[in-house]
Amino acid sequence: MSTTVPGLHPLIDYHPETTSIRDEVLDGLQQTPKQLPSKLFYDARGSRLFDRICELPEYYPTRTEMGIMQRHVDAMAARIGARAMLVEFGSGSSRKTRILLDRLDDLVGYVPIDISKEHLLQSAEDLAEAYPALTIVPVCADYTTTFELPDLGAERTTVYFPGSTIGNFEPDAARDFLRRIAAIEGAGGGLLIGVDLQKDVATLEAAYNDAQGVTAAFNKNVLARINRELDGTFDLDRFRHRAFYDADEGRIEMHLVSLADQRVVVDGVDIQFDAGETICTEYSYKYSLDGFAELAGAAGFAVAEVWTDADDLFSVQYLVAQ
Ligand code: TRP
Repeated sequence: MSTTVPGLHPLIDYHPETTSIRDEVLDGLQQTPKQLPSKLFYDARGSRLFDRICELPEYYPTRTEMGIMQRHVDAMAARIGARAMLVEFGSGSSRKTRILLDRLDDLVGYVPIDISKEHLLQSAEDLAEAYPALTIVPVCADYTTTFELPDLGAERTTVYFPGSTIGNFEPDAARDFLRRIAAIEGAGGGLLIGVDLQKDVATLEAAYNDAQGVTAAFNKNVLARINRELDGTFDLDRFRHRAFYDADEGRIEMHLVSLADQRVVVDGVDIQFDAGETICTEYSYKYSLDGFAELAGAAGFAVAEVWTDADDLFSVQYLVAQ
């Protein structure tokens, strides 16, 4: 089933129902230690807050990755090759993608995949306006589940996975996820991926504890979302954002800390918190280049090319399935 219609296609919708987040939320809150799935961050408000995080002076990843993309876009385009379909996991506002789209003039299509439906639709419309000749097929999905990609009759598929989102998976899950991507891309394709690098603790911790409190608002938004969608009774003033680097694990941990002994009800279920108890909302693993090459290798990929900034803060890498 291939299509040749240019322009913006209707959204393909695999958006999870509220009922499907209920079990994951209650399950996570009933574990010790408590945790919540990080995809909860990205409702409409969360997606807007995340865009603001990307602009923060402390949050070095976005502007560093954009700089790497701008400097090396020709080499990246050469790797991607002719008549490719570009599939992006977690496309958000597709800001970094524009650097590629400006340069790749023979793309068969762009498939942005995101869990945040309104945000995805708005971004796809903005892109369609900026790139009238480009075929855009937005897919709303939790990309960790299975869903179908459109067949646009491309000669090759390149997956674009920027933002160091791979760091938000624990290593075993990252490897399994990369394996799935390797299966998608097929012959002649590749994976263009952003990978944040290990660095001094102060720089890392500042990136997740900005002075304006945008990251704190982003983290706490998951509680507001549970209140709204699952009849929750979280008092947002009785929780605080906490992020720190665990050097042994090589990861930033994001938590919400209960400021008191308290009881919260979620969809009729009682959840008890001790003062100081935390809910872990996300990890963000930081890699060495060798460490990431090892992970990629375990997933069946070879690292074909690595681009970094002058300070080795961040890397963009082109991987090819073996
Ligand atoms: N992928 C981003 C990262 O790991 C996500 C992120 C940035 C994030 N800031 C955050 C997640 C704050 C939770 C809280 O850098």
